[in-house]
Amino acid sequence: MISEYTNDDYILDRFMNVKWTEQERNEVLGMPLYDLPYLPLDIKIPDNDLASIVEKIESIDESNFFFYCQANIMPYNSEKLVFYGPDNYKDFWIQTRDALSHEHFRELNDVDNYKWQIEIPEIKDFVSTIPMNELYMVECRNSKIDGKAYVHRDREKMYKGLNNRIFVPLTWDDGNRFAITGLGDIKAEPGRPFVLNGNSWHHGTVNTSGKRRLAIIISSNTHGCDKFDELLKRSYKKFVDVM
Ligand SMILES: [Fe+2]
Repeated sequence: MISEYTNDDYILDRFMNVKWTEQERNEVLGMPLYDLPYLPLDIKIPDNDLASIVEKIESIDESNFFFYCQANIMPYNSEKLVFYGPDNYKDFWIQTRDALSHEHFRELNDVDNYKWQIEIPEIKDFVSTIPMNELYMVECRNSKIDGKAYVHRDREKMYKGLNNRIFVPLTWDDGNRFAITGLGDIKAEPGRPFVLNGNSWHHGTVNTSGKRRLAIIISSNTHGCDKFDELLKRSYKKFVDVM
């Protein structure tokens, strides 16, 4: 428990509670596709698979979850677990921060030796439906009770615009919020992935639901992948009016 509020708490509270006007939101949503802050994708984990994934993650012993981020207090009450990726999470974190391009990242890390560390067939099936050039990591990014991610932008320079990491909410009880500058709350739907342009847009999250919130983040190289571009364009037509 936090015994007293920090400056970051006040900034997060202010950020989450800004009421963006329709005009401000329309200006953001009128931007070119690849500059948008986020976009829900026109693919979805089937309901039965989603229930099975949640059940399997909940059955994994708490001691397997860890947290690593360079900042000491951000995000707060969060946890990670690697499903697919390298053995060393810290190296991966630092190399994704430092890499200037996907080619540079390949020079820094041994991507060919990444593998499934924890095999959940329904997660593997879903990841296989996402068009991409190369998969880097599939990981849990859970929020524990009272979890929060203070206002920040992501730092990975190799991801440009909407060719960015994919966030998949798995559970989203009332009291969970994920807000972005200029738009406000993301309309999160369990099982529906969205691409987050987190390098360009400030964002923050809170979990006041009283329950753990489960999510997956998929890191991959989608730059110049025609089928991913088609998915983005199809998703834009379907979702831009309801964001
Ligand atoms: Fe972020």
